[in-house]
Amino acid sequence: MSEAHQKSSRSVPSMKRRALIPVVVAATMGLLTPVWAQEETPPPATDQGEPAAKEADKAAEPPAKEGDNAATPPAKEAEKVVAPPSTEKETAHESARHEQKPKRFDWSFAGAFGHYDRAQLRRGFKVYKEVCSSCHSIKMLAFRNLSQPGGPEFSEKEVEALAASYKVKDGPNESGEYYDRPARPSDRFPPPFANEQAARAALAGNYPPDMSVLAKARGYSRGFPLFLFDALPGFSYQEHGVDYIVSLMEGYEDTPPDVKLPDGQFYDPYMPGRRIGMPPPLSDGVVTYDDGAPQTIDQYAKDVSAFMMWVAEPHLESRKRVGLGVIAFLLVFVGLLYYTKRKIWTDVPH
Ligand code: HEC
Repeated sequence: MSEAHQKSSRSVPSMKRRALIPVVVAATMGLLTPVWAQEETPPPATDQGEPAAKEADKAAEPPAKEGDNAATPPAKEAEKVVAPPSTEKETAHESARHEQKPKRFDWSFAGAFGHYDRAQLRRGFKVYKEVCSSCHSIKMLAFRNLSQPGGPEFSEKEVEALAASYKVKDGPNESGEYYDRPARPSDRFPPPFANEQAARAALAGNYPPDMSVLAKARGYSRGFPLFLFDALPGFSYQEHGVDYIVSLMEGYEDTPPDVKLPDGQFYDPYMPGRRIGMPPPLSDGVVTYDDGAPQTIDQYAKDVSAFMMWVAEPHLESRKRVGLGVIAFLLVFVGLLYYTKRKIWTDVPH
């Protein structure tokens, strides 16, 4: 009896399982359908031509429509070879091309004991001033910041002279007009373009982003398992942005034959979408260093990235110093608490 019972109880689930098979297969096929639609539908759609594809779109039910929509971008690409992309949709499709992971570099300011290298910050400032500042603003940086502790630490005299070589808009004066005057150390860096539209008009429609926080605003995911470390205080890697900028500067390549870029775009595998509207800004020897550092693209890129990191995070050194102090204090405090607890509880029976 009990055996029979066992048998039947065993067979019921197995039958149920068998009954489930078609359901699972159907569900899997349902999940896979969009993938097939993406890979296989486009050729017939293009063969039939636009109107037919559109009709199918109209006739289809909403879920089917989704599949169709997923299938449209490749068809669009075929059109794009004929006409360079201009609409937003096409740009979005192009950006689906995966960018390359940035290389990892050694930075003096990495890790718990990190410090900026003053000489590097000074060189980086020179690269910014002589090359990047013709397109990129750095609105949050005031001249006086350059002499503050923790940064390039130029002398106040140097900063005054530097500021005086720039013109800034001021006003209104008594007659209500705005006027240009030499900058003072308390002024912020004047931007190269009056506004975004002026920049776009001058740079084939591209807008160079402000550099104040760019080094911290750009990043990338390091993937499993490294991102787990990035979540831990003390171990986290915080140099994603500068790695990315150096890789970007060094990463310009000739456009591969299967890629069509519109005018004013350059091929760089580190840029999301692999194309960038910035002409390669650096070349060997373009900036003269007085401290004997190599005058190469590699060195320029690292120096200017370090400088951008400082602009984005001027208090990095004090942040790390205070952090270490806090951890040291907490360790001592934990020890003291432990011994206090033992002392208090020694005479209590438990
Ligand atoms: C001729 C003008 C020009 C110069 C000079 C220039 N840039 Fe750019 N830069 C641009 C433009 C335009 C973009 C926007 C590109 C885009 O969105 O496709 C850009 C974008 C960037 C980006 C952002 C990329 C991103 O992830 O969005 C970085 C970083 C950058 N530039 C760094 C630099 C550095 C460093 C220098 C100096 C060594 C420099 N640029 C010099 C025009 C310039």
